[in-house]
Amino acid sequence: MSELSGMKGKTLVITGATKGIGKAVAEKFAQNGVNIAFTYNSNKEIAQEIASDLEAKYGIKAKAYPLNILELDEFKPLFLAIDEDFDRIDFFVSNAMIYGRPVVGGYGKFMRLRPKKGLTNIYTATVGAFVSGSQEAAKRMDKVGGGAIVTLSSTGNLIYIENYAGHGTNKAAVEAMSRYAAVELGEMGIRVNAVSGGPIDTDALKAFTNYEEVKAETIKRSAVNRMGKPDDLAGSVYFLCTEEASWITGQTLVVDGGTTFR
Ligand SMILES: NC(=O)c1ccc[n+]([C@@H]2O[C@H](COP(=O)([O-])OP(=O)(O)OC[C@H]3O[C@@H](n4cnc5c(N)ncnc54)[C@H](OP(=O)(O)O)[C@@H]3O)[C@@H](O)[C@H]2O)c1
Repeated sequence: MSELSGMKGKTLVITGATKGIGKAVAEKFAQNGVNIAFTYNSNKEIAQEIASDLEAKYGIKAKAYPLNILELDEFKPLFLAIDEDFDRIDFFVSNAMIYGRPVVGGYGKFMRLRPKKGLTNIYTATVGAFVSGSQEAAKRMDKVGGGAIVTLSSTGNLIYIENYAGHGTNKAAVEAMSRYAAVELGEMGIRVNAVSGGPIDTDALKAFTNYEEVKAETIKRSAVNRMGKPDDLAGSVYFLCTEEASWITGQTLVVDGGTTFR
């Protein structure tokens, strides 16, 4: 698919590729000859190892940059740093997500939500980071005649997941925002879509207080009787960025192993 799709030599910018879904997405693009500029937050050493591994395995250029998605002013200098190292930007994937202390007041039952604390942080990390990252990416894509943007979303905005109200509502918001972006960036040749994943076995899911329960329920609900893996989403994100998806924009692709309908 890589040669046919003309992906070789293009550049992906992706947030949060030290592990989980982001790491799998970065690897998928690298396998197809795409250069990778990715961000880390706390795992600098791991990020540098990943960059070296991707370069050695796939003969592409890969570089890691620090970014805290709660500090939206960091996006401008991030992209300026990427400009120094890469000659073009073709794809942007808004993937990183906060967990732990910053989501206190946002991850929890409805009556415990604290709009001014964790809930606002989840908005910043989900919608704010998508907007700030996509704006910077779009300016660069415009210079090369277009590109593709994908935001990660979650089926927790379609079905009830305990304690997930803060994340679920912000995923619904980022899907809506991606449709607005799709309409307005289309004239630059930029397509914008979302991939809405069902539960995927990553550290973010392990941070759920009811992780074992969610895992068991996912396997039970899944039409293919198993838990989701990061690679299950990586192929869809990649597809949406290829020429094969040239008429797909403003859409959310639900990739959930059949769990949502059940
Ligand atoms: N797991 C699921 O079930 C699932 C399902 C559907 C959609 N999603 C979505 O997929 C995306 C990735 O989730 P995941 O499960 O792969 O997560 P993950 O394995 O926990 O990875 C999170 C990534 O985000 C980075 N990060 C954490 N805090 C950050 C901050 N303040 N600023 C910048 N980066 C930060 C981490 O970097 P460091 O390691 O350097 O700290 C890491 O690279 C999220 O948008 C999530 O909502 C997940």
